[in-house]
Amino acid sequence: MLLMREFAIRREVFYRMRERNFLWLAGLALLVIALFLTDSQVIPGGQPVVINQTAVPPAPPLDSEKVAQGAILYAQYCAKCHGENLEGSLNWKRALPDGSLPPPPHDSSGHTWHHPDELLIHIIANGGDRAYNSKMPAFKDQLNREEIAAILEFIKSRWGREEREYQWWVTVRPNP
Ligand code: HEC
Repeated sequence: MLLMREFAIRREVFYRMRERNFLWLAGLALLVIALFLTDSQVIPGGQPVVINQTAVPPAPPLDSEKVAQGAILYAQYCAKCHGENLEGSLNWKRALPDGSLPPPPHDSSGHTWHHPDELLIHIIANGGDRAYNSKMPAFKDQLNREEIAAILEFIKSRWGREEREYQWWVTVRPNP
């Protein structure tokens, strides 16, 4: 009897320990994920971005208030075509029968990050190129400059570090 009880207690202690270990591991995993997320969004200051032997100043950290405002506007105006998660259309690289292209993703898998701010703002304000039968609408009557900038800030917050740095570089490089 005594032995049985002792066995039960030991088992209990063992399970508690396992639980505690598990909590520890879960906590550690969360920390690693959090660090990874911050790292991919906020570029630690001080490192110039050098591409093609051309250095530009470090990419500034994103403005979290603008990112939050942009997220709301994005959901309202852009998500229905570009996807709630910025994932774009399936087969977005393949032209539709009318020759137009489906909405591309705005996350790292797309090509939005290949373009400088100026061009992205132009496309959002004035719509896609009519010459290519583009179905990207113009938003200049619905969104002002600050709102467009906030949406861009939100989109940038979803890129990995490389995409963010590349897009920053194409935006500010001298003599493009
Ligand atoms: C009615 C559907 C639709 C809505 C709504 C829409 N887009 Fe688009 N967008 C498109 C399509 C389709 C394209 C691809 C056009 C092309 O390549 O000709 C596109 C292209 C773009 C591009 C160029 C992408 C690149 O990677 O070069 C940007 C930037 C863009 N959209 C931003 C936005 C933003 C920001 C919003 C919300 C304010 C928005 N779009 C809302 C359909 C839409």
